Amino acid sequence: MSKEFSGKVALITGGGSNIGLAIATLLAERGASVALVGRNKEQLDQAAVNLRDRGNGIVLTVAADVTDESEIERAVDRVAAELGGLDIAVNNAGIVGAIGPLVDMKPDDFRKVLETNTVGTFLSMQSEIRAMKRAGSGVIVNTASNIGVHGRRLNMAAYAASKAAVSVMTRNAALESINAGIRINAVSPGATDTPLSFRPGEDAAARDARVASAVPIGRVAKTSEIAEAVVWLASDRSSYVVGHDLVVDGGTTA
Ligand SMILES: NC(=O)c1ccc[n+]([C@@H]2O[C@H](COP(=O)([O-])OP(=O)(O)OC[C@H]3O[C@@H](n4cnc5c(N)ncnc54)[C@H](O)[C@@H]3O)[C@@H](O)[C@H]2O)c1
Repeated sequence: MSKEFSGKVALITGGGSNIGLAIATLLAERGASVALVGRNKEQLDQAAVNLRDRGNGIVLTVAADVTDESEIERAVDRVAAELGGLDIAVNNAGIVGAIGPLVDMKPDDFRKVLETNTVGTFLSMQSEIRAMKRAGSGVIVNTASNIGVHGRRLNMAAYAASKAAVSVMTRNAALESINAGIRINAVSPGATDTPLSFRPGEDAAARDARVASAVPIGRVAKTSEIAEAVVWLASDRSSYVVGHDLVVDGGTTA
């Protein structure tokens, strides 16, 4: 039986862990050939072993740092060459980085977060759009965050700024690319059940209690709940959705 993404090639940055791996898993289960791109080749290869059992497409792993222009360009070109094109790109790689009041933050710590989350997404999109333009079609989904939607007392100004930039950059890139047949959107997750949702020194019970009082739905998101939103935006089922940032946060920003 043909599946929704049969014959499609999907690239996921930061695809070896947590939300990225959940996205890769859904795409593979629904028929896509999947390329996991990230810094840690061992982690990517381990993730690929499990993915190969779940789908019937190819699973490729490519080591690349999204902040390195030539590495990400080579990675995207290799995926397109080895898997026969690039239909879907999910720019999910990201870090939280330094947490603390803006006034005390070291400029280099601030820059590092912007470099990974914003510049990394920019560089990834450049290579992906070029590859997709060669084929005349494609879909990109960027991972922003609900922390970038409005001001919050979380001591995460660098992360918030970096993700707000991803959201705005998504809208601009979408307008520039839609007439080339490339549809670009973003997903902004809220607190999701991965190590990124823990504050320094917090255990699972403390994290869950904090989330229960702060998030209207009363719990963190499962990685699969974020992945479903990303995969919908990557599919033809969202064919009229362009330049949108889909907040998936249990009502936090509602
Ligand atoms: N977990 C949450 O609560 C939450 C909430 C909102 C947004 N997000 C965003 O979702 C995305 C995935 O986060 P996650 O929770 O799955 O955490 P994660 O740490 O498992 O995922 C991030 C991935 O990005 C990779 N990565 C980081 N820097 C990279 C670089 N320079 N080059 C290549 N790969 C790099 C990491 O190796 C990792 O695989 C991130 O962009 C994060 O900011 C997470």
